[in-house]
Formats: sequence, C-alpha cells, structure tokens
Amino acid sequence: MTSTLRVAPATPERLTPLPSWFSTPEALAQWGGSGLRFPLDTEQIAAMLAETMTEPPRRLAFVGLAGDDTAAHAQLVLDWTDCVARLARFAIAPPFRGSGLARSFLADVFARLDEIGDFPRLELNVYTFNAPAIALYESLGFVREGVRRSSVKVGAARWDTAIYAIIRER
Ligand SMILES: CC(C)(COP(=O)(O)OP(=O)(O)OC[C@H]1O[C@@H](n2cnc3c(N)ncnc32)[C@H](O)[C@@H]1OP(=O)(O)O)[C@@H](O)C(=O)NCCC(=O)NCCS
Repeated sequence: MTSTLRVAPATPERLTPLPSWFSTPEALAQWGGSGLRFPLDTEQIAAMLAETMTEPPRRLAFVGLAGDDTAAHAQLVLDWTDCVARLARFAIAPPFRGSGLARSFLADVFARLDEIGDFPRLELNVYTFNAPAIALYESLGFVREGVRRSSVKVGAARWDTAIYAIIRER
C-alpha cells in the first residue's frame, strides 16, 4: 500500500466512490453532519462542488489519490471576512484506514489553503464520540475550545459537538 496520497481537486468523477464509504445514516452524519440525506448521492455531491466554483470560493474540496483510487476526501469551508477556514467532511476511504495516511494528507490540504490566502484560524467540528478523529486532530495541534452539547439530532439520538481550532503562524 502507498505511504502518501496525492492531493488533487475533487471532481464528480473522483467522488464516484464517496457514497459507498458511508453505509448507514449515522456514518454519513459522522462525516458530513446532519444536513445530508442518506444515502449520499450525486445531487448532494454536485451541490457541495458548486460551492467550490463561486468567486471567491466558499469551499475548497480535495481528494487524496492512491494511484487512480480515491482514498481520502476533505473540504475547507472559507470565511473570507474573518479569514477563518474550517476543515469539513474529512475521511479516509474504509480500505485505506489505519494505514497512517491521514496526517500527511491533511498537512498537504492545509498547504493548499496557504496557497490561496492567509487564514490564521483553522477550525473544525467533531462529535465527541469520534475518538480516532479526535486523537488525530489533537496530534496535529488542534485545541479543544468547547463542546456544543446535544447540538445535532441523528435519528432518535442527539450528539455533542466539540469545537477545535489551531492558530497558525506563517
Ligand atoms: C478519522 C479517520 C480519518 C482516521 O483515518 P485513519 O486512516 O484511521 O488514520 P491514520 O491511520 O492515518 O492514523 C492517524 C492517527 O489517527 C488516530 N487514530 C486512527 N485510528 C484510531 C483509533 N482507532 N483509535 C484512536 N486513534 C486513532 C491516531 O492519532 C493516529 O495516529 P498514530 O497511528 O500515530 O497513533 C478515519 O477513521 C475516518 O475516515 N473516519 C470516518 C469519517 C470521520 O469520522 N471523519 C472525521 C469527521 S470530524
């Protein structure tokens, strides 16, 4: 298996396998929030990608490629007024998980952010039960700023959302 992924812009073709990564409504919500409809479909993917086409872009969307296979996905939601970027919809494809690919993929995605502007604050939301993601983010230097308790409804359950951020110096 590859040791690093090649970062490239997300396109409809590269995102073809994305719906298959989320086999339950809970898995989809863990990745993309409660606003998505299960199963993920091409219409919802097109709506995400449309936000990368605005001027300036409201989102950047990237894939991590292992050869021709899409092995990772991440987005950066951009607040151009306050120069805050939010990491969103990040996942490693199930067959590639646990291979140590996540950290360098995210570093490469953050480097792409630096190419388009100065975003000193980089933040993210993560559900408090998501131990693998939290361990990863904390290892990258993200600091927990608080928890929005009972902030998301998924089926009959309510989830707590932790807010993390890193203040970056250039
Ligand atoms: C979170 C996710 C991206 C991690 O991907 P991964 O391929 O398992 O990550 P890696 O193998 O590169 O490991 C990187 C780090 O993640 C953390 N990690 C990964 N799996 C873990 C686990 N089962 N338990 C605890 N920490 C874990 C560790 O800090 C690990 O570093 P280490 O190996 O040096 O300890 C992956 O589990 C995923 O795609 N989950 C579903 C989607 C999701 O929840 N996205 C996050 C939304 S906020």
